[in-house]
This record gives sequence, structure tokens and C-alpha cells, in this order.
Amino acid sequence: MLYEHLGINDAGHLTLGGADTVALAEKYGTPLYLLDEDRVRENCRTYIRAMKEHFGGESGPLLASKALSFKGIYRIAAEEGMRTDLVSIGEMMTAHAAGFPLSRAYFHGNNKTDKDIETAIRYGVGTFVVDNLEELEALDRIAGELGVTQDILLRLSPGIDPHTLAKIATGSVDSKFGSAIETGQAEEITLRALSLSSVRLLGFHCHVGSQIFETEPFTDAADIMLGFIACMRDRHGFTASVLNLGGGFGVRYVESDPVIDYCENIRLVAAHVKARCAEYGLPMPEILMEPGRSIVADAGVTLYTVGTVKTITGYKSYVSIDGGMPDNPRYALYGSRYTVCLASRMHAERDFVATLAGRCCESGDLIGEDMVMARPVRGEILAVLTTGAYNFSMASNYNRIPRPPLVLVSHGTDRIGVRGERYEDLYRLDE
Ligand code: LLP
Repeated sequence: MLYEHLGINDAGHLTLGGADTVALAEKYGTPLYLLDEDRVRENCRTYIRAMKEHFGGESGPLLASKALSFKGIYRIAAEEGMRTDLVSIGEMMTAHAAGFPLSRAYFHGNNKTDKDIETAIRYGVGTFVVDNLEELEALDRIAGELGVTQDILLRLSPGIDPHTLAKIATGSVDSKFGSAIETGQAEEITLRALSLSSVRLLGFHCHVGSQIFETEPFTDAADIMLGFIACMRDRHGFTASVLNLGGGFGVRYVESDPVIDYCENIRLVAAHVKARCAEYGLPMPEILMEPGRSIVADAGVTLYTVGTVKTITGYKSYVSIDGGMPDNPRYALYGSRYTVCLASRMHAERDFVATLAGRCCESGDLIGEDMVMARPVRGEILAVLTTGAYNFSMASNYNRIPRPPLVLVSHGTDRIGVRGERYEDLYRLDE
């Protein structure tokens, strides 16, 4: 099994966090998002502990909201002592509605509107991560009008090319995110921020990409960022007190993906940061990281009911399920790989290779191809593993398919985190 919080019970059913997934499929229907709350908490604790131990001071992780945003996740994050990053007012309102202290939130986004800026300031978002010069000017103006001095970080692009999918690599110079160090724009925005009276510059942010298995992209980024921090000190007398290294540690979707020791990765990055700080004579900044996927992905499982099982003579087999790209668009978008299992017969031999297809009127509506599983029968329950990140948060109503419920499991108990949409919800806003 991919992870130790997944198991098989006496009935031969898949369990998640001790709960029988087939029983949950019966209770709530399918498709169904499951999230192992205990696993999420464990992942939060791993980051908090490792960052405190290796970086020290106030260093710690922010939950990247984009990976999974609903009220329950902010309650868990708050209870665990996580901070959070937000990329939209929608995420901010959700966190606020859950009682998450917005003073512990960091507001991202490469195109914040004046309305976004004003709303986030009024709600007391702790820190803005400012993407560009135009935003900086707008923020200073609006903060001034509201009589606030807003804490900020500046998002810089370090010019790193991580070994991940181009669509989820974000730290290169030619990117819609941040101000590039290489072109001199990072220095320009830093100087401007220091000259303004309604913003207070705390430090810098970078994010190199997502689903990264190596530590090099992070240590390379830290090198460049610390070099820039030292340069700003030498040239302009400004010493950053915060360095946010972004998110991006990978997770294991299939057996061939490596097992990642986040604690060890953090230790390696920290050792590197410490050495560079010593070299430059810099005090150790407060280090922030923004994990999304590595906090929630492995805690999630999606359950589906098998429909048609079709073998096209001379070609391949298709297993159709009652969900698909509306609840998980990642294969359609990125060709992402997943592990699938027959939750209702876990001991059955996995000797069947099939394309897992959804029910949208679109041939690209697939969860995966060449997926190995036990040959399922109509009505059985299939589980797609590691779906906690970027599934619920990227779901759509394409073909007017209602979004499934999200159920939290903990120590064998279950409760609704998000109710499933009803058909009436689909046309609720239609005139
Ligand atoms: N911080 C920033 C500024 C980011 O842009 C991201 C992800 C994160 C943190 C969190 O990265 P993580 O730890 O989750 O890798 N939809 C894509 C992923 C897009 C990630 C965008 N930024 C997917 O489904 O793979």
C-alpha cells in the first residue's frame, strides 16, 4: 500500500484512517471525497516540528489554501498552529468564516484588484505578498487611505528551473509571478517599497514550483534569495527579517514515486540556509514555507462506483465511473498519475489494465490510462488514492454535474466536511 494510513480490513475492504471506505460509500453515496483528518494533522506537525527544530525562531509553515480550501481545513490548520496563504478573497472569506485568525494569513496573487486589496486590508490580513510594482503602488495608496501600515513581503523570481511539469513551475524569470532578480526589477521594487510610508517591508518570497522531489531547487533558490538579501543590505542598508521559500515538496502518487522524508528535506535546506547566512554575515531570517500538496494530498481518497466495463476488441479496456474530470481534472490538465484500487475487493488479483474514464461528454475526461487494477464489476467501489490536494479545490460543474461531498474521517469515525451539491444548487443562481 502507498501509505500506512491506508489498510485492508477483515472484509477485504480498503480502510482510510481506520474507516471502512465501502461502508462510507454506502452511507454517503459516490463520488465521495474522503479526507483523513489525523493524517492532515500529522503532516502539519511534521512541518511545524521540523521547521522549528532546524530553522528556529518564529520559522514555520503556511498551509497553501489553493491545495484545499473549505472551512474544516482552516479549523484544523488553526488548531495545529499553522499559518495560511491565500490567493483570493474567496479563500480569505472561507478562512475568516471558519474563525481562522487572518493576522496569520499571507495574501498572494499576481493580479490583486483594488477591491481585493481594500477588502483584505479591512479584514486584517497580516501580510501581503506583493507581486509587482503596480500592485505595490496601489497597496500603499489604499493602505494610506485606510490609515493602515501594511506588512509586506515582495515576491521575487529567482530564475530557477525545477524538474517538474512546466505548467506548475513558477520560479523562472519568464513567468507571470513576481519581480525578477536577474533583470534588476527586484532591486527596483525593493527600493520603492522602502520609500513608501503605508507599507512595511519585512522580507522576500519565492516559489519555484510544485511536485518537486529533490532539495536542490530549494537550496538553489535559497542561495539566490540570500545573495539578494545580502546585496540589499550592502547597497541599501536593508536587512530582510523574513524569507519565504514557497511550497512545492512532492508527494507519492504511484509506487514508483520516491518516499519523501519531509523532515530530512527541511534539515538539508536549513543546513544550507545557515551556511549561506554565516558566509554573508546575515542573521538567520524567519523562514516560511508554503506546503499545500504535502499537507493534504496523501490524506485524500476519492471513491467512485463502477459503471460500464468495456473492452474494445484489439484495443484496450475502459472502466467508466460515476465521477471524472469535474471532481479531478488533473489527468486532463497535466497527465498526472494516480493509483487506483478496487476498494470492495482489495485481495483480488490486480491483473487488469484499463483506462479509467469519467462520464462527461468529452473524450479527454479520464482519471488515468494504463491503470492496473483488479477487474471490477458494475456496482463495485473503486478508490483513487492521494486525491486530497488540487481535486476538491479544482472541481467544476462541467456538464452540470454536482460536486461530491467531502467527508472527514478520524480514528474510524466520519463527519461531513462539505455537503454534496444537489441538483437545485446547480441552477440556484440562474435567473
Ligand atoms: N506557494 C505558492 C506561491 C504557490 O504558487 C503554490 C502552488 C504553493 C505555495 C503550494 O505548492 P505545493 O506545496 O502544493 O506544491 N494545480 C496544480 C498545482 C499548482 C500549484 C500552484 N502553486 C496541480 O494540481 O498539480
